Amino acid sequence: MKSRISEKFKTLFGKEGEFFASAGRINLIGEHTDYNGGYVFPGAIDKGMMAEILLNGTNKVCAYALDLDEYVEFGLEEEDAPAQSWARYIFGVCREVIKRGGKIGGFNTVFAGDVPLGAGMSSSAALESTFAFALNYLFNLGIDKFELARIGQSTEHNYCGVKCGIMDQFASVFGKKGNLMRLDCKTMEYKYYPFNPEGYRLVLLDSVVKHELASSAYNKRRESCERAAAAIRKNHPEVEFLRDARMEWLDEVKDVISEEDYKRAEYVIGEVQRVLDVCDALERADYETVGKKMYETHDGMSRLYEVSCEELDFLNDIAKECGVTGSRVMGGGFGGCTINLVKNELYDKFIETAKAAFKEKFGHEPKVYDVVISDGARKLE
Ligand code: GLA
Repeated sequence: MKSRISEKFKTLFGKEGEFFASAGRINLIGEHTDYNGGYVFPGAIDKGMMAEILLNGTNKVCAYALDLDEYVEFGLEEEDAPAQSWARYIFGVCREVIKRGGKIGGFNTVFAGDVPLGAGMSSSAALESTFAFALNYLFNLGIDKFELARIGQSTEHNYCGVKCGIMDQFASVFGKKGNLMRLDCKTMEYKYYPFNPEGYRLVLLDSVVKHELASSAYNKRRESCERAAAAIRKNHPEVEFLRDARMEWLDEVKDVISEEDYKRAEYVIGEVQRVLDVCDALERADYETVGKKMYETHDGMSRLYEVSCEELDFLNDIAKECGVTGSRVMGGGFGGCTINLVKNELYDKFIETAKAAFKEKFGHEPKVYDVVISDGARKLE
């Protein structure tokens, strides 16, 4: 990828720049908990984005997306985001840096990536954190890593219409080879967990479906949670986020909130606890419990949070039938991948069965990605 980028960069701009990269992410457990102040448990992966960048001494950004063969220019003072969605991420990052007082100038860039798009592995966070990290480095801005993640998150909020939490950008910026990270999204405390489950593998099965309106459905889930938290807060003022609530407290407001909001909150309160249970289980190397919790998450995401779909439920069922230790829909949902914790000896049979059964039902095979936990945002030498 590096040599392809570098070749194009030379052709377009006649010079050489510096290389930066960042990563997509997986999440072992803790889904839709981040914007509820709860815990998440992600890690960066070996699929990401890479960009060559050279300052151009103007006020203009000239960006080329190698995978799409598209070129966009925008001025740093422009208010209107470019039409191309990929360019909005770069534009958004620049604008968010400027909003925070960062003095930046124009640059030329060529970038490419290998995070599958729409698969729920956060290609957008990888792109945002590549550029946030690079601008911080190239203009010596002294922005700390959490703020770099927030710059990516604000880009999603303000330029891409997704009111996402902090998980993806956090994972992409803080990712460390061989480690998952448990982040408390309320206090922003985090801890690295070396993850090397002996006898098991983590594998993603990508349904290759991406449902329309995923971002508006996502934002609606968030609003449901906020309404439920506000109702509980009337009785229990200490409840800032759903993460602070107990199931009994949710029950007290059952008749006040809609059935839908109740189900959403029920899922979230359960999921926050499941992350803690998984952490405990991991400390004992108890992968059976980890897997059981993953299935519970899938069930909750499907029945209560309603962010699964036919294809993902099907993949989850196959995993169960094959005796896979844990399986669930990963990320925001509405398409994308399942993440599966599989015993080594079951791996081949599971993949083979899942491919054949899925193809028979949906006409195409799922894609298979082995998870390699890797470093997040960085400068390449
Ligand atoms: C998307 C969002 C994250 C998080 C997940 C669900 O990936 O960007 O902030 O909410 O969905 O866990």
